[in-house]
Amino acid sequence: MSQLGALLPQLRTAVPGPRSMAFAERLRGVESRNVTYLSPHFPVFWEEAAGVNVRDVDGNVYLDFTGAFGVSLAGHAHPAITARIRRQAQTLTHALGDVHPTALKVELLERLSDLSPWPDARGVLASTGSEAVEIALKTAELATGRSGILSFQGAYHGLTLGSLAATARPEFKEPFRKRVFEGVVFAPFPAGGGLADALAAVERALNEGAPAGHPIGAVIVEPIQGRAGVRIPEEGFLAALVEMAQRAGAVVIFDEIFTGLGRTGSMFAFQHERVEPDLLCMGKALGGGLPLSVCLGPERIMSAWPQSTGEALHTSTFLGHPLSCAAALAFLDVLDEENLVERADALGGEIAGRLRSELDGVVGVAEVRGRGLLIGIELASAGGRPLEGGGAAVAAAALASGLLTLPAGDAGNVVELAPPATMTSEQAQVGVELLAVAIRSVLDGAPA
Ligand SMILES: Cc1ncc(COP(=O)(O)O)c(C=O)c1O
Repeated sequence: MSQLGALLPQLRTAVPGPRSMAFAERLRGVESRNVTYLSPHFPVFWEEAAGVNVRDVDGNVYLDFTGAFGVSLAGHAHPAITARIRRQAQTLTHALGDVHPTALKVELLERLSDLSPWPDARGVLASTGSEAVEIALKTAELATGRSGILSFQGAYHGLTLGSLAATARPEFKEPFRKRVFEGVVFAPFPAGGGLADALAAVERALNEGAPAGHPIGAVIVEPIQGRAGVRIPEEGFLAALVEMAQRAGAVVIFDEIFTGLGRTGSMFAFQHERVEPDLLCMGKALGGGLPLSVCLGPERIMSAWPQSTGEALHTSTFLGHPLSCAAALAFLDVLDEENLVERADALGGEIAGRLRSELDGVVGVAEVRGRGLLIGIELASAGGRPLEGGGAAVAAAALASGLLTLPAGDAGNVVELAPPATMTSEQAQVGVELLAVAIRSVLDGAPA
């Protein structure tokens, strides 16, 4: 019998099964109700995962086309990464990150520096993507002396108070309106057209500043918007943006927390346009499954931070955590040794191609788009409007057949795929077939 990792879906119970449903009830009694979405169709509780397979507490095996929020580019529980974590856990699990750190922190920053566009890169490690964004925004303010931020419609940069200001989705911000920094202006993101308008808005914002008289010091952008529904900007946008922002003396931050480290079939998504940011944020895949993020930039920008005299202006208890650093070093080895960047490119092309032919002519599939293994399927109602909540409906239908997907898009009308680069061609084929069935079943019942 094949091992978990190489399996196709195997369902033993209805989904969610009885044990998942029992855990959901217990969770309802102890977790803040805002966190985990509980419904008759969600969630399944994970017990074990390997490669592209997840096994839940009822023994059901799924194909994971989410990569667990895009983290598992190398597959779940990659043996080399797991072995490295196990070895590290037996030696040292925690140190004094910014006081008496580990050699792992040095090695990891050296490796990241080598991957970066800058020979003199300097970095600040952190645990979550949001925190890397916070560090980037602080760096930009230190470097420019300006507090205004230019972000983009659809942007997702995290939910901590600083990063939330640069996140566009109003429903995340509205309840905290008085706490969220007001000096942010949002320009249109030119996905599928609108380049000239977007650049005109950028020019205006750079000239006029953000609301409440904050001149723009930071321009933050996802080279491909992930959570907004895999929105790919028009060719030339990033290059023009960098040129305009730098001319205006602002610091350009590329948030590659989702797209970085191979996900889109190149090491970084910005390389598609051969541009260079001033700061680069990574997270998600970086920690090989453990929490880790980083903000990197060249010395000329990062030296805006003062020399530490014993109290760092930005640090945290778990900065440079030994387990996360060890896992990240192992992940970077695997990325290289197993050619995951090239595999993401090839496998992504294969999956998107199969999806296009499976869904060809299906009314309500507005677009299948993506780069590498970041793929979005946009759903529309028969009248052509975004199919609100269509992504979640597909996720529920796909889950019931053994396939994990996630919704995305401002209207929840996109099915987002960010699977591991290690899946077999058979798994890709079966996953696409299950997804096409789920999409058709949702569209058949969709309102006109
Ligand atoms: C582009 C981007 N930036 C930042 C974040 C926030 O990362 P985290 O959830 O680890 O704080 C995310 C998370 O999805 C993201 O996709």
